[in-house]
Amino acid sequence: MKLLVIGGGGREHALAWRLAQSPRIQTVYIAPGNGGTALADNMQNLDISATDELIAFAKQEKIAYTVVGPEAPLAAGIVDAFRNAGLKIFGPTRAAAQLESSKDYAKAFMVRHHIPTAAYQTFTDPALAKAYITQQGAPIVVKADGLAAGKGVVVATDLAQAHEAIDMMLGDGSFGEAGARVVVEECLTGEEASFIVMCDGQHVLTLATSQDHKRLLDQDMGPNTGGMGAYSPAPVITPALHNRIMREVINPTLAGMAKDGNPYTGFLYAGLMIGDGPDATRPLKVLEFNCRMGDPETQPIMMRIKNDLTVVFELAVNGCLDQANIDWDRRTALGVVIAAHNYPGTPRTGDAIHSLPEDTPECVVFHAGTRLDGEELKTSGGRVLCVTALGDSVKRAQATAYAAVAQTQFDGRQYRSDIGWRALPGGAA
Ligand code: AMP
Ligand code: GLY
Repeated sequence: MKLLVIGGGGREHALAWRLAQSPRIQTVYIAPGNGGTALADNMQNLDISATDELIAFAKQEKIAYTVVGPEAPLAAGIVDAFRNAGLKIFGPTRAAAQLESSKDYAKAFMVRHHIPTAAYQTFTDPALAKAYITQQGAPIVVKADGLAAGKGVVVATDLAQAHEAIDMMLGDGSFGEAGARVVVEECLTGEEASFIVMCDGQHVLTLATSQDHKRLLDQDMGPNTGGMGAYSPAPVITPALHNRIMREVINPTLAGMAKDGNPYTGFLYAGLMIGDGPDATRPLKVLEFNCRMGDPETQPIMMRIKNDLTVVFELAVNGCLDQANIDWDRRTALGVVIAAHNYPGTPRTGDAIHSLPEDTPECVVFHAGTRLDGEELKTSGGRVLCVTALGDSVKRAQATAYAAVAQTQFDGRQYRSDIGWRALPGGAA
């Protein structure tokens, strides 16, 4: 069986890595892939990005199905195009991907279907937006409506910062289409967790819970990033909360999408803010929806899957997810991102990666911003590697991951030394 994975980050390396372990696999193609997937035995990078060329390739190679990693091709309609060509693909249609590609669409959808989320208003006029902000007071959150590669959210601690965010997004056109509208919303507090499910339009299969670390520096300081590390499971999501999330968020979202004529297929990622209190009553609100898996959440989640993932996706693209099952490793998986010099600003690229630890059953180095330059591995993006380890406890997974991190070597590398801290005894206090 041949499969195609779209994307080239750590998330896609991890997905392809798990798929490629199936005895059914001949080759997992990755478009465009990265240095890590270029080095793997039964993976092959494809230097194609145009959808019609990918469709031609999938037909010619008799690709069983395609799995899409990032949001951009989903928002551009890659799923619609593959399906129209008679090809199997796992992901949401362009219309359904609006849950991520338009914050205004997502907020209006949540209000319409009574899904808990922060109070908000949408603006196109900077003066009206600023007047609303002044009336609401700080802290307050300003979000660009469209996809902004993780740079579209400002959590403003004072009014000046919030007004500045309005000028930046609505004012000078630097956000392009993504900034034509802004959502201004109530600032929530609590603990964040990622809850990701697979959907086939009718059935839902929940994945293991996870939590990522958005800030660049230890103790959640410094600027926001795409994610500096993640672990699974997230102990904050107890079985009682799990049930509430299904009942209050996931089921009404899928029912609402079907009712609106956009039955949801693909990964659905709910970014949640969980406030304080007993599980039965603690505040539970949706911060955002993503129409894909998280990066780096995928890396620890993939480490914990014990059965054949190709079967799960096959059932999903055929509308039979009710028959699917994932056998989860009970251990904790924890991934530490190693980023390039100057990330999350414009990263320096082209640094030679001098040394990498060997993968073991307990520890795998997933690549993201790497490329092969002849025989040499070089950095090629902001997040370079995600060193992901399994352990009987968070502490052990952490120890194994950081021992491997110490064996990686390239100039300017940066990483957090506290990934998983909230899951350690006393951590969330
Ligand atoms: P988003 O792209 O919507 O996930 O936002 C990125 C990050 O901004 C989230 O992971 C939160 O840390 C933060 N954030 C987003 N919305 C809010 C909110 N309403 N209150 C507090 N923090 C938020
Ligand atoms: N790690 C957060 C995201 O993938 O959106």
